[in-house]
Amino acid sequence: MLVYLDGAVLPLAEARISPEDRAFLFADGLYEALLARDGRLLFWREHEARLRHGLDALRLPLTDPAGLEGVAERLLAANGLVAGEAVVYLQVSRGAAPRAHAFPEPAVPPTVYATVKPREPHPADRVAKGVPAITVPDDRWARCDVKSTALLANVMAQQAAKEAGAHEALFVRDGVAIEGSHSNLFAVRRDGRLVTYPACNYILEGVTRNEVLRLAGALGVPVELAALPVAELRAAAEVFVTGTTTEVLPVTTVDGRPVGDGLPGPVTRRLREAYLARLDELWPLRAPLAPGA
Ligand SMILES: Cc1ncc(COP(=O)(O)O)c(C=O)c1O
Repeated sequence: MLVYLDGAVLPLAEARISPEDRAFLFADGLYEALLARDGRLLFWREHEARLRHGLDALRLPLTDPAGLEGVAERLLAANGLVAGEAVVYLQVSRGAAPRAHAFPEPAVPPTVYATVKPREPHPADRVAKGVPAITVPDDRWARCDVKSTALLANVMAQQAAKEAGAHEALFVRDGVAIEGSHSNLFAVRRDGRLVTYPACNYILEGVTRNEVLRLAGALGVPVELAALPVAELRAAAEVFVTGTTTEVLPVTTVDGRPVGDGLPGPVTRRLREAYLARLDELWPLRAPLAPGA
């Protein structure tokens, strides 16, 4: 696999980052994960806007965030990922400097790293049956709107999910289920209203979340941006999670108890279909990638 590092495209095994890089020492960095189709990025404008929000929040001086679109597309081409779906990972750190908590002075060049890989679609079973989720206490920092590489709490939560045989861990803050370890959380109340936590500093404003909210509006599904106490999550008719690689994925058990009738519900299915149709509208696939290609 060829990766991008600070202006060069090179084999992963040859990529070298300083041990003084602040992403290594302090998790002082940001990232984005995007979907590409036929070598082109989907929702780049939205991902770039979120990256700029993080750069401003962390006062991280990356001069040309817009240029990362070209970097990613160059890397996709260099890896031959020009047909079918791929996942692009972009990371920016504050750069390498002798270890001290405050920003280096003068500023050093940010480290920019990118990788691409073929997209692995969900196994058919996962979508047809839905996935189990567990709830975990949200012990993250209070700037979850920043897509920071400081993901240790997310790592611990996802590991807990894995060990419990679940697909996702849902963070609970003050008794309210707010989002997943790497996804946004939605529930459909028994009266048909779709509910998700309002965008604020406690969740990541997912690109997929926003698209799903827009599609729900277009389909006439009533939407409520509100807190969902765990008791209401458990009583929901449907639950699903969203994300760039997660798409719209039904959650059919929470903490071992079935959601609704234990099967993916009609609102989830409609929104999933609408979301996939939207991707096709943005960039219809020319040719699916052969397995192992
Ligand atoms: C904590 C968290 N919430 C939500 C999401 C979903 O965001 P998006 O739809 O932009 O991929 C992610 C994606 O990685 C995430 O890490």
